[in-house]
Amino acid sequence: MIIAVSGKGGVGKSTISSLIIKQLVESKKFPVLAVDADPNSNLGYYLGIDCPAGIAVSDLREDEFKKNPAGISKVDWLNIKMQECIFETAKDFDLLVMGRPEGPGCYCAVNNLLRDFLKKISRQYPFVVIDNEAGMEHLSRRTNNEIDVLFIVVEPTNISFLAAENIKKTAQQLPIKIKKKYIVVNKYQNEKVKNIEGLDMIGYIRYNKNVSDNFDPVRDTVSRCDISNRVDADNSEIKNDIQKILLKSGIL
Ligand SMILES: Nc1ncnc2c1ncn2[C@@H]1O[C@H](COP(=O)(O)OP(=O)(O)O)[C@@H](O)[C@H]1O
Ligand SMILES: [Mg+2]
Repeated sequence: MIIAVSGKGGVGKSTISSLIIKQLVESKKFPVLAVDADPNSNLGYYLGIDCPAGIAVSDLREDEFKKNPAGISKVDWLNIKMQECIFETAKDFDLLVMGRPEGPGCYCAVNNLLRDFLKKISRQYPFVVIDNEAGMEHLSRRTNNEIDVLFIVVEPTNISFLAAENIKKTAQQLPIKIKKKYIVVNKYQNEKVKNIEGLDMIGYIRYNKNVSDNFDPVRDTVSRCDISNRVDADNSEIKNDIQKILLKSGIL
C-alpha cells in the first residue's frame, strides 16, 4: 500500500509522515519504506535517524550509471546503485531519500529506470509512505505507481486551504492513479474550518506544543529528533488522532 502526504510547506507533512510510519510499525504493519521526496529532506530527522550524507538518489551521478562493470547490465547496475541508497534501520522501516530533482548530476535520462526501480522496490514493502514536497509534480516524474491514499495536510489557515485546492487540481492532472484523497487538518485548536469540494475531511490532528520543533538539548541532537519520543513522552492525544485517521482511511 502506498500512502503519500502532501500540503503547503510547514503544515506538518514530515511530522505526520513520521508519525504514520511509527504507527504502522507499532501496529505490526511492516516493513515500511519511508520515502523522503521533499528536496528539503528532513524525514530522517523526524524519524530519529542520523542519515549519512550522500545517500540521496540525486547524489548518484549519471556518469556512475554508465560505468557498469563488465558482466552487469546498465539496468542491473542502476538497481544496485539505487538499492545502496536505501538506508536500512533496525526499526522495521527503511528510508529512501530522493534529494533534489535536478542537481548538478542531472539524471534525467535515467528517470524511466528510476520509476521502474521505485515500482519494484515498493513491492518489497507492504507499506510505503511518501513525504512529498509542496507540489506534486516531481513525484510523477519519479513514480508511476498507483497511490492508494493521498493525505493533503492543511492547518487552520486560509493559505494552506488554497494550497490544498491547488494540490487537488494538480493531482487530477497527474498521470498517476490516486485511489483515495483526503484532507487532514493539522495543528487543530477547535477552529472552524471550511470544506474543499470533492475531498473528504478524514480527521484532525491537534496542535501540541511538544511536537513543535523547538530544540531541546536533553531530548534532541542537532541532527535528529525522534518525533514519536516527543509524542510518547507527553502521552499525547496526537497518537490517537493519527490512529483514528489511519483506521478511518482503511490503512490499519
Ligand atoms: N500537530 C502539531 N502541533 C504543533 N506543532 C506541529 C504540529 N505538526 C507540525 N508541527 C510543527 O510545524 C512545523 C512544520 O512541520 P513539518 O512537519 O516540518 O512541516 P512540512 O513537512 O509540511 O514542511 C514544525 O516545527 C513542526 O514541529
Ligand atoms: Mg517536510
